[in-house]
Amino acid sequence: MKREQWKSQLGFLLAAVGSAIGLGNIWRFSYMAYSYGGGAFLIPYLTALFTAGIPLMILEFAIGHERIGSAPLAYKKIHRSWEWLGWWAVIFVMFGIVLYYTVIIAWCLNYFLLSFNLGWGSDPNNFFFQKFLAMSKSPSQLGAIRTPILFSLIVIWFINWAIEFRGVQKGLELANKIFMPLLFVLTAVLVFWSLSLDGASLGIKAYLRPDFSKLSNPKVWIDAYSQIFFTLSLGFGIMIAYASYLPEKSNITRNAYLTAFINCGYSLFAGFAVFSVLGFMAQAEGKAISEVVTQSIGLAFVAYPKALSMMPGGNLFGAIFFFCLVVAGISSSVSIVEAFVSALIDKFGLNRKVLVSLLSVLGFIGSIVFTTQAGLLWLDIVDHFITNYGLVVVGIAECVLAGWLFDVTILQRHVNKVSSIKIGKGWITLIRFFVPLVLGIMLVGALYNEVQKPYGGYGWAAIALIGVNWIVLTILAAVVVATRPWKTELHKKGGRG
Ligand code: ALA
Repeated sequence: MKREQWKSQLGFLLAAVGSAIGLGNIWRFSYMAYSYGGGAFLIPYLTALFTAGIPLMILEFAIGHERIGSAPLAYKKIHRSWEWLGWWAVIFVMFGIVLYYTVIIAWCLNYFLLSFNLGWGSDPNNFFFQKFLAMSKSPSQLGAIRTPILFSLIVIWFINWAIEFRGVQKGLELANKIFMPLLFVLTAVLVFWSLSLDGASLGIKAYLRPDFSKLSNPKVWIDAYSQIFFTLSLGFGIMIAYASYLPEKSNITRNAYLTAFINCGYSLFAGFAVFSVLGFMAQAEGKAISEVVTQSIGLAFVAYPKALSMMPGGNLFGAIFFFCLVVAGISSSVSIVEAFVSALIDKFGLNRKVLVSLLSVLGFIGSIVFTTQAGLLWLDIVDHFITNYGLVVVGIAECVLAGWLFDVTILQRHVNKVSSIKIGKGWITLIRFFVPLVLGIMLVGALYNEVQKPYGGYGWAAIALIGVNWIVLTILAAVVVATRPWKTELHKKGGRG
């Protein structure tokens, strides 16, 4: 069986960028920058980008390309006892992250439709929590499935399926060749439009005004590293699978730098649209920016709709904004599913079309719990555990695996053979010492906070049953799959280096 391949380097780059740019870029980054020192936040953010983000991106591209395999296959070829780690990464993203990620995209699709007549009415806060989500009081009260969300979810999984079904070139590559330019153009429209609003400068000042005193807080630095990690889709097994579809002659480092720069540049740019609109609203209501700004979900589904209702042409602006979120979200969700699909094809030689169809149905069914009235609460808990523990542990393990249990110079030599920008001892030092150290500190910090009090005030039972269980069950599943015999011969082949 011949391994699928990208048609062009540009196609690969756009797919990697499509995976990186996601829901997090638009609302998470801008809020973080604002609350962590505005322009000064660029210091920890860029430090994290250069000392961990780019080195790890190069590592993941190198692992996928040199070992020629999806995460489990590549890890097995690095060290035969570590196949399970690759499975764990692709299992918890497929049966964790993508299940709730698609539900948030579904909300964005609902809001895209609501935008046309500003359907959230005069009280967007009440509308979102009480009417749209009809949120229950605790994770144990699942309540009913919210049908409008369920319908959008079907559409999102259908689009995901259609892209995945068509394979690497005709599906992922083609979709991203359409999605990414579209996203960039539409985001530019939003940015320039929002900058022309009265009060925009107020918002921009709040967004970028440097406050260096914030940088003395270690949390700012830790969060900058975790944002870089999530936004670049590192630790998901995605970049490994994507790089494994590259032909022999491929510029690894240039692609890694470009993916990282385009992704981070996009976040910074989109932040202008977010904050100009908030500035406009603050001015119109005669309030300070600090009174109108909220974080993450509240920003997109409460503060933004409120501003849209006050803005001339707000319905069109809103439709473009939520459409952008849908596009950014789908190009990331397909990449998550692909990390898992690619792993199963590598190990069991399964047929892509059958596999993708089955997984899309399973994924859809798995997502349903997040469309119930307790969906937001479940989402919050699962996201907290997977991003704080799953991704970070995979990140540490992949550095240890490549840096200590394997001859990392094989990867280095391979990268240097095919790439224009060379990597040297500095990169090896970062991979062997610095990145695992920083991620280790993040992990210990997170664990320390965890045992102090139950996350988000949910109560220990919910945390154990939903959060901890999710981690434990996915590890068990990974170990089981890793011990199954290989149905293909791929694991017997060596790497390229
Ligand atoms: N990198 C993707 C995001 O930022 C997962 O949403």
